[in-house]
Amino acid sequence: MSSVIKINAITVPQDSDDELGRRFAARHGSMDGTPGFQGYELLQPTDERNVWLVITRWDSEEDFENWRNSQHFAKSHGEGEGAPKKKPVGMSSELWSYTVSTTG
Ligand code: HEM
Repeated sequence: MSSVIKINAITVPQDSDDELGRRFAARHGSMDGTPGFQGYELLQPTDERNVWLVITRWDSEEDFENWRNSQHFAKSHGEGEGAPKKKPVGMSSELWSYTVSTTG
């Protein structure tokens, strides 16, 4: 199945250990039932980079946009009412958009 791939590249402080991993683990299952969402992987760097990648796959651009603009996203990402008031681990992040060109 073809996928729309959205990658959030999160830069963390050098000494953050795997705090981001723990926070994602604490949200396990929170994406269940999101329309068009196929799944995600949180990738932790094993070299000196301090950029983690959240690789997400979607059925369509529209499904991603709907989630991105939803209360569900806002709440789970510290925006909007009732959001958890925790200091973010990341210092900055970038959204990258990809599609599979070729597989081997
Ligand atoms: C491509 C889709 C996504 C976008 C655009 C996005 C956006 C963001 C942003 C902007 C941050 C803050 C980074 C920073 O601190 O600088 C973040 C952190 C986070 N995101 Fe996402 N995210 C995405 C996918 C997901 C998914 C699928 C989950 C589901 C578990 C998730 C859960 C989290 C968690 C737990 C954090 C850490 C918050 C913290 O530091 O306490 N994100 N995301």
